[in-house]
Amino acid sequence: MVALPLRPATTAQASSENYVPCAWRSPDEADMSAWEVSPMAALRTVDAGVKGAPVGPLVHGPVLECRELHKRFGDVEAVHGVSLQIAAGETYGLLGPNGAGKTTTISMACGLLEADRGEVIVAGRPLTTRSVAAKAAIGYVPQELAIYPDLSARENLRFFARLYGLSAAAANARVEEVLAVIGLAERAREPTKNFSGGMQRRLNIGIGLLHRPQLLILDEPTVGVDPQSRNAILESVEALSAEGMAVLYTTHYMEEAERLCDRIGIVDLGELKAEGTRAELVALVGEHDRVTLEGTGDLEAAARACKSLSSVRAASVQDGGVQLIVDSARSVLPELLRTATDAGLAVSAVEVDEPDLETVFLHLTGKALRD
Ligand SMILES: Nc1ncnc2c1ncn2[C@@H]1O[C@H](COP(=O)(O)OP(=O)(O)O)[C@@H](O)[C@H]1O
Ligand SMILES: [Mg+2]
Repeated sequence: MVALPLRPATTAQASSENYVPCAWRSPDEADMSAWEVSPMAALRTVDAGVKGAPVGPLVHGPVLECRELHKRFGDVEAVHGVSLQIAAGETYGLLGPNGAGKTTTISMACGLLEADRGEVIVAGRPLTTRSVAAKAAIGYVPQELAIYPDLSARENLRFFARLYGLSAAAANARVEEVLAVIGLAERAREPTKNFSGGMQRRLNIGIGLLHRPQLLILDEPTVGVDPQSRNAILESVEALSAEGMAVLYTTHYMEEAERLCDRIGIVDLGELKAEGTRAELVALVGEHDRVTLEGTGDLEAAARACKSLSSVRAASVQDGGVQLIVDSARSVLPELLRTATDAGLAVSAVEVDEPDLETVFLHLTGKALRD
């Protein structure tokens, strides 16, 4: 893996003065009183730290720390040595294609799946599948919906709030807050079976917020939703992050990782290939351009032929064309076109882009993020 320096979040809650990477320590008796308060109170502790007031132990370490996680399913090494840390107020994106190991990683990070090897520490506490207290700090939003279609949004939220142990009065108040966060207050009385897929997905996220978690884990929350709901989901995540929540967000959409995430971990075949801010990751590619040759014909042969040119760093077949990383698009373009055409590609369009996360993925793995 390419090691880049750990960066605190850009938000005030994780300013570099009070952020100490890897500083987990076993909480002593005095500290324990801080762990037992409600997660929202814990967030207020973080806020207090920013203003210079005495700070609790939560400020001094990451909200989530995964150390060397491993998981194998039979012959498949689904996760191989993944380590990451997320601070309060920081949104961390796991970006990788289908099958990269994102869901397996976060299943271990939230205590749903036992790791073969490695450790998870949440808000200072070691987490296993049997942990109860440490899990209370986590809001997990699975990719599949877990809501009752015959109940309204408000009834669903009240039901889950009571399951989380909130009193009736506290549940009622919290449900109204959550409805506002997910933008469903106007539609709160309708049965959720009438909702669009995106609205159901937003309710699914709301359920994960009821107990005011310090860490929100979202597994590809925008797959298959309409653009309006997608934007509403992204805005909710931005708002929660601004309030100090730590967010772990998995996606295979580069645009979402670029918009939401303070830091991004690029995953492929169970491994974290690199992590850093967008700028740090793009800098890994160096002074190169991404060239996309759209067209039909023998894409594989065209990619192979282009790859043999000295100025081509990587070449990969993608839907409807060939994607390349080249030293200087301006000088190499005529030769690229000739080579690809000779190899059997009927080129219909050419696109040249500055490096972005797609380029980084291609650079690190030799593959396109979305084939
Ligand atoms: N329960 C399971 N049993 C067997 N193989 C699994 C299981 N869960 C995941 N895998 C395999 O592990 C790899 C990683 O899967 P996953 O974590 O779901 O990836 P992602 O979420 O990035 O799409 C894939 O090859 C997948 O087929
Ligand atoms: Mg997945």
